[in-house]
Amino acid sequence: MNELAIICVDDEPSILSSLEMEIKAVFGNTYLIELAENGEDALEVYEELLEDGHEIALVVSDYIMPKMKGDELLKRIHACSPKTIKIMLTGQADIEAVGHTIRYANLYRYISKPWQPTDFRLTIKEAIHTYLQNQKIASYTSKLEKTNQSLIKLNQDMNEFLGIATHDLKNPLSAIRGWAEMIASDYDDMGKPEVIDVANLIVESSHRMFELIRNLLDVNEIESGKMNISIESLNVLPMLQALFEYYAQQAKTKNIHLYFHAVENKYLALVSANTLQQIMDNLISNAIKYSPYNKNVHIRISQVENKIRCEIQDEGPGLSQSDQEKLFEKFTRLTPKPTGSEHSTGLGLFIVKKLANALNGTVWCQSELGKGTSFFVEFPMEI
Ligand SMILES: Nc1ncnc2c1ncn2[C@@H]1O[C@H](COP(=O)(O)OP(=O)(O)OP(=O)(O)O)[C@@H](O)[C@H]1O
Ligand SMILES: [Mg+2]
Repeated sequence: MNELAIICVDDEPSILSSLEMEIKAVFGNTYLIELAENGEDALEVYEELLEDGHEIALVVSDYIMPKMKGDELLKRIHACSPKTIKIMLTGQADIEAVGHTIRYANLYRYISKPWQPTDFRLTIKEAIHTYLQNQKIASYTSKLEKTNQSLIKLNQDMNEFLGIATHDLKNPLSAIRGWAEMIASDYDDMGKPEVIDVANLIVESSHRMFELIRNLLDVNEIESGKMNISIESLNVLPMLQALFEYYAQQAKTKNIHLYFHAVENKYLALVSANTLQQIMDNLISNAIKYSPYNKNVHIRISQVENKIRCEIQDEGPGLSQSDQEKLFEKFTRLTPKPTGSEHSTGLGLFIVKKLANALNGTVWCQSELGKGTSFFVEFPMEI
């Protein structure tokens, strides 16, 4: 920040120079002192100082001046710089103008002419002290406001978190209870295959609950900064192939065909195996989850400059521009809905983004409505 400035205004050049002298006697060269012989000049000086990035801490102005009087000048300055401290120099008879200036320009003090040098020095010392105190208070207040805003946001997130957790856990839990009660009370009337079917429903529902809890724990770990990731140089090809084989089987239930494209037989990236697997799990499962039946999903791995890039391309519904903007936020369930009644918590891509960042990588998406979506992730490779 530029130096704080003080403006002195008086149509008497001798008074102006004695004002300057008194101020220098108190503050030395700490503040920039500007002098003006009338109100209009003072406003010009004021504008120039602001343009040059100075803050004006104090204006000391005479009251009786040609053209613009002191009260009018201080009123105008107050309108733009309410924090600037204003002092007016007056004769004994100007008490009405003082009242007016106190009301409209928040006048700090008036000093009767001729003044006592000790009184004057004390007053400007106090004035500057008040200005600096107010500045400190304003800066604390703005810090408190920021902290308050982030606490409000945290509270909203927590409420949302609780809302989602209770909603998404309650449904599968009540289903589990219903099925378990069914087995307990109707066991004798149920055939073995029926018991197995109901037990499988219980297993499936508990998987959903487990998945949500895992996501919530991941988010918690990420947000509390406790993520512990160790990066190593890893050939990511075998892991991607294993994931591809797993998801190719899963996708068959929706008659979706998965394709895997790799040119080299080794792709060395600086990653953590578990973290990369979690990222790819989310992206591939999304491609299958949001694609209609009978479509194709392509997984490509390539080296682009000194990065390893994975692309997951689907022929699903695609994402609008406004959906794309929210894609990596927390708890975002957007326009595309799962096509095979899969579960959706809206946390997967938020986690993907945080994990990719933790691996010094990047993730982004290209999509056109109705034409499908491609997600890209890139990681540094060992050079
Ligand atoms: N490949 C995709 N094609 C179309 N829409 C997608 C795709 N991937 C994600 N989306 C949209 O983005 C939203 C957020 O995805 P995200 O993976 O974060 O959460 P989710 O899949 O709903 O739940 P989960 O936490 O179980 O992953 C989804 O609800 C969906 O609307
Ligand atoms: Mg997902």
